[in-house]
Amino acid sequence: MTREDIDRILAELGKLVCKTQKDIEDARIAFLGKKGSVTALFDEFRTMDKEFKKEFGKPLNELKNTVQSKIDELKSTISESAAASAPKQDLSMPGDNFELGSRHPVSIVRQEIVDIFRKFGYDVAEGPEIEDDYHVFEALNFPPNHPARDMQDTFFVSAGHLNPILLRTHTSSVQVRSMESMGLPIRVICPGRVFRNEAISARAHCIFHQVEGLYIDENVTFADLKQALLLFAREMFGPDTQIRMRPSYFPFTEPSTEVDVSCNICHGKGCNICKGTGWLEILGAGMVDPNVLEASGIDSKKYSGFAFGMGLERIAMLKWQVNDLRHYFENDMRFLKEFDSAPEV
Ligand code: PHE
Repeated sequence: MTREDIDRILAELGKLVCKTQKDIEDARIAFLGKKGSVTALFDEFRTMDKEFKKEFGKPLNELKNTVQSKIDELKSTISESAAASAPKQDLSMPGDNFELGSRHPVSIVRQEIVDIFRKFGYDVAEGPEIEDDYHVFEALNFPPNHPARDMQDTFFVSAGHLNPILLRTHTSSVQVRSMESMGLPIRVICPGRVFRNEAISARAHCIFHQVEGLYIDENVTFADLKQALLLFAREMFGPDTQIRMRPSYFPFTEPSTEVDVSCNICHGKGCNICKGTGWLEILGAGMVDPNVLEASGIDSKKYSGFAFGMGLERIAMLKWQVNDLRHYFENDMRFLKEFDSAPEV
């Protein structure tokens, strides 16, 4: 080893140019790695005589330190320039605007109805939208050739079986499932989507929503039905609301009735919403037909009950005076935003 060896390495170090972290690592290996030039001098140093060691000990250590600090310096300049070229965040930029949704009018009405009946002690029951003929028709006392089973009204998923699979046309199917599975007495409301093969117009749609209710116990009478619906109507439409019942027909109730509420817009005087009658039709109801109770294994001599059903779109149309049912399905934000905090009429 000579002084020149040390000077040569120092000269190489002076000329060193590194552009990337990898260049620096290569240089470190070339000088200080196992087979590096500085390491080689140290290996030689170990074999030297004492005198030589005295002469070269200090400069050799200085060389090693110089190389090490040069490498450290290169490392820090490269990471600084990487940080400088990284895209800067402008902290003064305005944030992203999130558009907040609002509740759909049909959901608002459903929640109101569910809340009212919950206060009366009803539970909420749900069932499948794809149902079988038995739960939608058969168990509800529809005679085999009842017109509602006709292809005109029902969307069949697979027809032609003894028990065809179809899209439920009303949530009365959930009432059947409740009678099958719940112990007596039963007090349930069944909110849900229903499907009917109807031409879409301002007054009809092939998909809509219902809430149906069922109450079965000993000694349930028509007077109980009337009282439950009157209380519901007053909670829903205001304390002065009157109800009117007209005879009707449903296969699953006997007697059956169509229920109107007094028009809360003209208060009975007659307006274009109630078409001059002072009354608005809102639901169908009746005493559960004994055949329906027996079909689900309930003793119709001991138990009786009532059922009712209403369309949510219709109630929402009356509540907010919306004149076209199709608005509820088109998802126009301008329409949907009207409701969450809209005052009731
Ligand atoms: N299921 C009936 C319908 O969809 C409504 C109804 C329910 C009528 C319960 C009477 C009793 O039109």
